Amino acid sequence: MAINIKTEADLVAMREAGRLAAEVLEMIGPYVVPGISTGELDRICHDYIVNVQKAIPAPLNYNGFPKSICTSVNHVVCHGIPSDDKILKVGDIINLDITVIKNGYFGDTSKMFAVGPVLAHADRLMRITQECLYKAIALVRPGATLGDIGHVIQQHAESNHYTVVRDYCGHGIGRTFHEEPQVLHYGQSGTGLMLVEGMTFTIEPMINAGTHHIKLSNTDGWTVTTRDRRLSAQWEHTLAVTKNGCEVLTRRKEENF
Ligand code: MF3
Ligand code: CO
Ligand code: CO
Repeated sequence: MAINIKTEADLVAMREAGRLAAEVLEMIGPYVVPGISTGELDRICHDYIVNVQKAIPAPLNYNGFPKSICTSVNHVVCHGIPSDDKILKVGDIINLDITVIKNGYFGDTSKMFAVGPVLAHADRLMRITQECLYKAIALVRPGATLGDIGHVIQQHAESNHYTVVRDYCGHGIGRTFHEEPQVLHYGQSGTGLMLVEGMTFTIEPMINAGTHHIKLSNTDGWTVTTRDRRLSAQWEHTLAVTKNGCEVLTRRKEENF
């Protein structure tokens, strides 16, 4: 199977989808406070995506996923299902993962939020995980390889005594949610697929405080947790490879790339 190289017209549409996904994260930030439920965060995002952005929340009904965003709290690694029964409390850390479809194109991004003051070790895990993503983004240019990306993420995580989740990865993205290539968050420099201008993909490292082992819920079929129930963090951007580097299609105003 071949990797779909985007045209300039594709990229115009991908920029809009990416911008909308980023704007959902900017919009929802002030609501992430102690006492709110993840179900309420889902409703606010759903209504904003549908009514304000005139876009589609991609997770809703995707392979049976029941909600419009993913909400992954503390030891939940990814794909947490929003619920009115899950109330955020002081000290929690939460990943909100937003994917929107606009004019047939996908934009996919996530970030961590601290719920009130959090312990220093939780704050550090969130920060190092964001640095993993940023160090990987800095390497993206034609001629670099997917192994370069995986290597820098693994190196930064493990040198901080954290582990990289192996069972989930970044992905090509465009007119489909998940397409080739798979973007592993571990690996060896100089190996794997060589990047070329016009590729679009996500990088979305999941980094654990304890071991890398995870468990898929056998009740809801979605929620992924750490086996040891220690904390996990994740940050995600959608990128396009350009002539000299990359464009972060889901960049937020707080970020300077
Ligand atoms: N947004 C996730 C990703 O980064 C995928 C979520 S699939 C869902 O690829 F069904 F759980 F929403
Ligand atoms: Co993704
Ligand atoms: Co995502």
